[in-house]
Amino acid sequence: MAEFKEISPHASNAEKLLNWVDNRFPLSKMYKEHLSEYYAPKNFNFFYFFGSLAILVLVIQILTGIFLVMHYKPDAAIAFASVEYIMRDVPWGWLIRYMHSTGASAFFIVVYMHMFRGLIYGSYRKPRELVWIFGCAIFLCLMAEAFMGYLLPWGQMSYWGAQVIVNLFSAIPFIGPDLALLIRGDYVVGDATLNRFFSFHVIAVPLVLLGLVVAHIIALHEVGSNNPDGVEIKATKGPDGHPLDGIPFHPYYTIHDILGVTVFLLVFTSIIFFAPEVGGYFLEYNNFIPADPLKTPLHIAPVWYFTPYYSMLRATTDTMVNVLSLIAALSAAFVVLKTTLNTKGKAITVIGVAVLIVLLKTFDAKFWGVVVMGGAVVMLFFLPWLDHSPVKSIRYRPTWHKALYAVFVVFFVVLGYLGIQPPSEVGTLIAQIGTIYYFGFFLLMPWWTQLGKFKQVPDRVTFEAH
Ligand code: HEM
Repeated sequence: MAEFKEISPHASNAEKLLNWVDNRFPLSKMYKEHLSEYYAPKNFNFFYFFGSLAILVLVIQILTGIFLVMHYKPDAAIAFASVEYIMRDVPWGWLIRYMHSTGASAFFIVVYMHMFRGLIYGSYRKPRELVWIFGCAIFLCLMAEAFMGYLLPWGQMSYWGAQVIVNLFSAIPFIGPDLALLIRGDYVVGDATLNRFFSFHVIAVPLVLLGLVVAHIIALHEVGSNNPDGVEIKATKGPDGHPLDGIPFHPYYTIHDILGVTVFLLVFTSIIFFAPEVGGYFLEYNNFIPADPLKTPLHIAPVWYFTPYYSMLRATTDTMVNVLSLIAALSAAFVVLKTTLNTKGKAITVIGVAVLIVLLKTFDAKFWGVVVMGGAVVMLFFLPWLDHSPVKSIRYRPTWHKALYAVFVVFFVVLGYLGIQPPSEVGTLIAQIGTIYYFGFFLLMPWWTQLGKFKQVPDRVTFEAH
């Protein structure tokens, strides 16, 4: 137990109260550790706004969610009508609902930018592996949260989107059909599905999400923030023991982040007040039609933030499975003929690849589509161990590395676009190339990230006062 601190009898009442609390709860200690004495690198740039913005959107979603639950009815017979009631009759209900629906897309925009920052500045590298892993778990939770939330308005897209995605689980060999039944609670998406998705959306997943966000920030504050130069500021400390390139988070970054929050709120409110559907991208037009289990919409597409992964799923056709088998076989041949691996290692590679090809051929392409889609997200967890570059930040990498990152982003956006469009032959081909690039980018990282001429990383961060 910490020592009981006495305070001068002449102190103000506020100081006395704080001292009383501090003797019982580490309030000032936490304030110092996480705000006034958390030394953050002084060279944070635009990309560093998105962490605090993610917290802001999280708070918006929770607060608006609480008010929506007061009027929403999780019952297949009246769910759609209850949302219309919120929109038309509940005072300010339309605002709360649009804040929540726009907040969902905003969350993904902010989090994608936040992840991209981590990717280009190597923020996932030692000692921040756990910060990244908690982040990836947050991303998974966010996807589950958005997917289940989307069923709740019980519109056509809610219904058929859920039908398509839950049916994917039935493609898993052996356990698939039972698993899909367990998720739906029925043989088709129905009232039971709506009830369990509601329960997960309003309490189970948000609880896990909140816990993970706390763990994410505790892990970050344990090791300290990275920065656009990828230089460890803790390596250069002044006589006071604080990093020379660090500034206290409060007041410097709390004030700085107000700029990010202001610009964000400008855009966010403009969307809410002037274009809450964003041309059918944030709220799909088909979802203004009540769910009808007897009428399948012509074109079913998930909301934009899922479409890069959905594209990968659709790209996994029989032809794609053949191409993947060929790539696996060629990789094995390369390992055997061109590497210095010992005989045992080579034998294991050949057997492993042979088993993989047999499996690829045994199960349906639809199943491999699910594996590809899930694998695309799961692979992110391993990023800290895939990147073998001698430098962290993209600033000090060879120019052609930057080109690889740029092509990665272009393919990710193109995959997202294709996932919204109805399938076409050309679209599928481009999605297949994009999928192979996505996986190649990560899986070949241990090799390509070591190649090329790297620039000298400075000892101190680069910073120009402005
Ligand atoms: C609800 C979602 C999230 C919240 C509220 C959140 C919050 C934060 C905050 C406040 C910071 C410190 C400020 C900053 O560096 O921008 C941070 C840093 C970080 N986050 Fe997140 N985060 C979320 C999701 C994610 C995801 C999905 C990932 C990656 C998969 C991720 C990876 C990171 C990394 C690597 C850092 C350290 C960055 C650095 O020091 O350069 N976060 N996060």
